[in-house]
Amino acid sequence: MRIGIDFGTSYSAAAARIGGRLEHIRFGGLPQFRTAVFFPTALPDPADFRLTTALEGEVAALVRAAKVEQTRSGVIPRSDAQLHRDAVQIVRRQWLETQRQEAEDAAADLDDAVFGEDAIDRYLEEGSGHLVQSPKSMLGYDLLPRARKTITGIAAQILEHIRLTAGGQLGTEVRLATIGRPVRFRSSLGPAGGEQALDILAEAAQIAGFEAVDFLEEPAAAALHYHAGSDTRHSTLVVDVGGGTTDIAHAQVGGSQAPVIHRAWGLPNGGTDVDLALSMAHFMPLFGRGDTRVPAHHFVDAAMVQDMPRQRAFHKRDFSEVPAPYNARLRTLQHDGGTTRLYRAVESMKIRLSEHDDSRHALDYIDAALSVAASREDLRIASVDFLSRLERLLREVASELEARPDSIFLTGGMSRAPYVQAVVREAFPNVRLVFGDPSLGVVSGLADHAPGGLN
Ligand SMILES: Nc1ncnc2c1ncn2[C@@H]1O[C@H](COP(=O)(O)OP(=O)(O)OP(=O)(O)O)[C@@H](O)[C@H]1O
Ligand SMILES: [Mg+2]
Repeated sequence: MRIGIDFGTSYSAAAARIGGRLEHIRFGGLPQFRTAVFFPTALPDPADFRLTTALEGEVAALVRAAKVEQTRSGVIPRSDAQLHRDAVQIVRRQWLETQRQEAEDAAADLDDAVFGEDAIDRYLEEGSGHLVQSPKSMLGYDLLPRARKTITGIAAQILEHIRLTAGGQLGTEVRLATIGRPVRFRSSLGPAGGEQALDILAEAAQIAGFEAVDFLEEPAAAALHYHAGSDTRHSTLVVDVGGGTTDIAHAQVGGSQAPVIHRAWGLPNGGTDVDLALSMAHFMPLFGRGDTRVPAHHFVDAAMVQDMPRQRAFHKRDFSEVPAPYNARLRTLQHDGGTTRLYRAVESMKIRLSEHDDSRHALDYIDAALSVAASREDLRIASVDFLSRLERLLREVASELEARPDSIFLTGGMSRAPYVQAVVREAFPNVRLVFGDPSLGVVSGLADHAPGGLN
C-alpha cells in the first residue's frame, strides 16, 4: 500500500487513495499532527557526578602528566591540590559529555517516543527528556556526523509513526510512500543543503520500514489536488505558504485532461520566520533585548526552539551579570521548558492576530505580573522582512509568466493570515483567489501522485 506523506515543518499528515476515495490518516482523531517528538530520556545531571575508582585513575593519570609537563616546560609549578582540582574538572566535563552522547544515542531508538502536541505537553509536564520540534527545518544545515545521525533517527521515528498509524487505520502493511518536498529547503549550504535533506529523508524512510519512497514538490502536489476538484481546464498559480517554506507552482489543471505542472518557485521562509520576528520585536524586549548588553543573537537562540544547537547554547549561558529584572527572567526562560512555553505564546499570538486587531498574553510563568501585548499592525511591521520576500517572489513569478493565471489557489497554514492574502492580491490584482484547505491540500495531492508519472 502506498501513502502520501506531507512531512511539514509545523504539521505532518498522511493520506491514501483507495479506489475512488481519498482517506486521510487520523492521528489522535485529527488529520494532522504537530511535527514534534518527545523522548522521555533524562538528560545527565551534573550533580550525579561521582569519582568512581576508574575516574580516580583518570584523574591521577592527568595529574602525573601535568607534573611531567610542568617540569619539562619550566613554568612556575602549581600545588598538588591545584593540579588535582584541574584534573577533576576535566574528567567531570568528559563524563558529562559522554553521558549526554549516550542519552542522545539512546533517544534516537527509543520505543516510547511521544508525538504531536502531546510531545510538547509531556515535555512541559516532565521538565526533562528531549523535545524536538520542526526537525524538517534542520535537514539542509551543516551537520556534524553525530548530529546528522541524530536528526536522521528523529525523522525516522516520525515517519515510522506515520507508517504504523496508517497501517493500523487502513488494515494493511504500508511500505511505499510519496513524500512532499519544498522547492527550496531551508539551507545553510545552498543547493547542496537540499540534496542533503533529501538524502536524510530517504535514509530515514528506509529505517522507518519503507521499501521505496519518491518525492514530489509540495506545490505540485497541491496542484494535483486542486485539479481533481476543478471541472474546467484553466491555468493556475498554486501558492503554499507554510511554516518553513513558501512554494509556488504554475500549472494547467481541471477538466478531463491530465494536469501539467509548468514550473515551480520556492522561498525558504514561512510562518516560523514571522514567529521569530514577532518574538524579537515584542517578547524579547521583556527579557532585556535593546535595554542590556546581551547580544541580539542570544535572544535569537532563545526564540528558535526548532534549532537544537541554538537551544543548547542558550540554556548554557550565564546571565547573572545582566541587570534586574532581566537576569531573573532570562534564568526562568532557561528552565523547565521556558523557551518552548514562550514560543507557544508567540505563535498563538500570531494566529490570534489573524482574527483580532489586538492580542494580550500573560507571561506569569516568567514573572507574576508580566504580560505582552501587540496589535495586528505591530505584527505586520514585525514581519515586514518576510512579507517583502514574499512580495519579491510573487513579482518575479509574475514577470516570468507569459500570461496572467486564471486563478490562484492559496493553501498552507499561513494563507489564513490576512496580511499574507493582501500581498498575494496586490501582486495579482483581478485574479480569482481560490482558498483551498490550508492544511490538507498538499497531502491530498501526494496521495494521488502516481510515481514515475508527473514530477
Ligand atoms: N490562522 C492562522 N494565522 C496565521 N498563521 C497561521 C494560522 N494558522 C496556522 N498558521 C501558521 O501556519 C504555519 C503552518 O502551516 P502549514 O501547516 O501549512 O506548514 P507546514 O506544512 O508544516 O510547513 P512547510 O510546508 O513549510 O514545511 C505555522 O507557522 C502556523 O503558525
Ligand atoms: Mg506544507
